[in-house]
Parts: sequence; C-alpha cells; structure tokens
Amino acid sequence: MVVPVLFDLKPKERLEELYDFRDEIDRLMTCYRDGRMALILGLRRMGKSSLLRSFLNGYGIPHILIDARRIVVNEGRMNIRGFMNELSQALTEFLRRRSGIRDRLLDVLRNIDGVSIGTSPLSVSISWRRGRTVLTALLDAVNRIAEGLGEKVVLAIDEVQELRALGLNIPMLLAYIYDNLGSIVAILTGSQVGMVYDTLRLDDPKSPLYGRAVVEVRLRRLSEEESMDFLRRGFEQYGIHVDDGVLRSAVNRLDGIIGWLTLFGWNYVHGNRDLDSIIDTAARQEVEELRSFITKSRAEARYRAILRFVAEGLRRWSEIKRAVEAEEGITVDSHNFTDLLTHLVKMGILEKQGDTYRVADPVMEYAIRKYLRP
Ligand SMILES: Nc1ncnc2c1ncn2[C@@H]1O[C@H](COP(=O)(O)OP(=O)(O)OP(=O)(O)O)[C@@H](O)[C@H]1O
Ligand SMILES: [Mg+2]
Repeated sequence: MVVPVLFDLKPKERLEELYDFRDEIDRLMTCYRDGRMALILGLRRMGKSSLLRSFLNGYGIPHILIDARRIVVNEGRMNIRGFMNELSQALTEFLRRRSGIRDRLLDVLRNIDGVSIGTSPLSVSISWRRGRTVLTALLDAVNRIAEGLGEKVVLAIDEVQELRALGLNIPMLLAYIYDNLGSIVAILTGSQVGMVYDTLRLDDPKSPLYGRAVVEVRLRRLSEEESMDFLRRGFEQYGIHVDDGVLRSAVNRLDGIIGWLTLFGWNYVHGNRDLDSIIDTAARQEVEELRSFITKSRAEARYRAILRFVAEGLRRWSEIKRAVEAEEGITVDSHNFTDLLTHLVKMGILEKQGDTYRVADPVMEYAIRKYLRP
C-alpha cells in the first residue's frame, strides 16, 4: 500500500509528496543553475513552503532556510533578536547537513566578530553587536567556501515580507548578494504579494534591486478537474472511496486552494465528514489573524466595513464606498478609501479583477461574513 502523504497537514518536504508542481520545480531549478534570485508568490495555503522545501530537500541543495513567520510567532513581532536567533538556527542546521562545507566554514566563522561556535552539539550563534557587518561577513564566508567547492548555496527566506519591519535594508542586502556573491542564490516566498513588492521595492527605480532579473513563480488555484483528481488520489492512498458528489461539493467551496483541499481530505479520513464544520473551524483561525492585523490600524472600523461589504457581495469601488458611507453617515475621502482597498489587495486579502474586488480566499470570505462583526 502507498503511504498516505497527500493529506498530511505539514508543508511537504519531499518531491514525491508533492502533487504536480513540475513546472514550478523546473523553473526553480533553472534559476538555481543559471540565475540569481527567485520569488515564489501565492495566496495563503497555495503551497509555497511545500514547493520551497521539497525543491531544496529533493535535490539535496545546500541551503540556509529562514522562516520569517516563525520569528513573528516566537517573538510576538518581528525584531532583530528574533531574526538573529532564526539565522543562527538556520546556519546550525545548514552546517549539520553539509559535512563537506562544515569544517572549512567553521574555521572561517570562528574568526568573524559576533559569531560564536559551540561544539557537541554543533551550534552557531550570531550576535547583533557588530550590526549588519556580521551579516555580510557571514554571507561572504559562505560564498567563498561554496565557490571553492564548486557548489551553490541557496539562501531561502519564507514569507520575506515579514522582514520589512526589521529596520534592515533588505533590498540592499539582496542586491549585495546578487551582485557580489555568485555562489549564493536567493529564493524568497511571500503570501502577501503586494507587500513583497513593497519590501523588496522591485518596482521602485531607486531601489538597489530595481532592474535585476528575478524569476517569479506564481502559484495558482487548481482547476476543478485538478482539485477532484487531488482529492481522489489522496483518498486512494487511504484506500477509501468517496462519492463524486461529496468531492464536487468540497471542490466548489474550496476554490482550488490546495491547502484547504488537504485540510478537507485530512478531516474526512479522520472521521470529520462535515464540510461546513471543517470550514467553520478553519474560518475561526483565519479571522483571528485578520483581527490582529486590523486592530493595529487606525482605520479599524472602516477596514471591517469594507471587508464585510465585499464578503457580502459588493464588487465595485463605488458600490463599496457608498455602503461604507451609508454605514458611517459621512462622506469618505476617495484617496483614503482607495488606499485602504489597495492595502487589502497588497495583503492578499482582497483580489482585484478588472474593476471589481472580491475576497481572495473562500474560507476567509466565510470567516468575514460569520465572525467579523461590526
Ligand atoms: N503540491 C502539494 N501537494 C500536496 N500537498 C500540498 C502541496 N502544496 C501544499 N500542500 C499542502 O497544503 C497545505 C499548505 O501548504 P503550505 O504550507 O506549503 O502552503 P503555503 O503557501 O506555504 O501556506 P502559508 O501561506 O500558510 O504559509 C499543507 O497542508 C501542505 O501539505
Ligand atoms: Mg508557508
């Protein structure tokens, strides 16, 4: 029997566990061989982390993997201490995996001010005393040694937009790697596409990264047929037959987002067969994240109103604005209103198609309607 893996809830770590994504893998490989920097972009739960990790592990590519969201979760917010801890851990894991690089690199690292090495178990810790020079010294060292071995190392940053709050000049750092460190390839992911662009300032002619060749891998929704196929294969791995009608209704609700299909499959094989309750549980979590974002904003009430009206089906700028004005009983400034909508699009919460808006994710839409009260 096949080991059931498709419905595993963790990000996939191996190529054999991935459903499809062949083209995306090929494009990453081309970039790794011949390019300098790649971006994996897509809504929440479209499989960015799975693609990144399976690619790196699947081909045994030496990599330093920083999970920027984990820093926020561990620290409560993004800060330098959290970043340095995450980087220390990422380097430690990198060295443990790569014995070829390890001994050479350790010798060099020992001489960098701000880096300390522990043996048994091997650990690297980096301090911020020396500011950003420690970062460039580190990357220089990794680059030099990789070059000497004829290898290329990937610096992977999952959810790179989270680093914008760090007070480091991220575009400058990446441009430095791009221009000077030929044996390091950067692969970054982001679920808030507009915020990724802002963080890297890719569209800004004054940005150090402007005009650099960046390979963009955009993850997409699965088609209806692919979604059906994904579910069928997942259930097959458990030896369970599920009626097409049941699959179809899940597929219709979950809009081709692979993470939700996985969650549905996992629940179903573990005895929770009620689609509504699966969506409801997921929605409660979604709304928590949404709340924590909007309650930090001065425009909290207006964000809530916009989201509710869009979730309830209003589509056009003017319709949404009129509804918000009716609720607030005042005329809303057009620029301010557009800024709020644009920000929600940048965050990947709303999607703009032509001149209409909609909530990008069906579970989020449900969450807003049900749990985001005025
Ligand atoms: N190609 C794939 N094949 C099978 N399962 C997948 C695939 N891509 C993602 N999944 C599953 O979907 C869920 C979400 O995947 P993952 O965490 O990789 O997405 P993500 O885009 O990084 O999400 P987030 O925005 O929450 O970080 C996980 O349960 C994962 O196992
Ligand atoms: Mg992820």
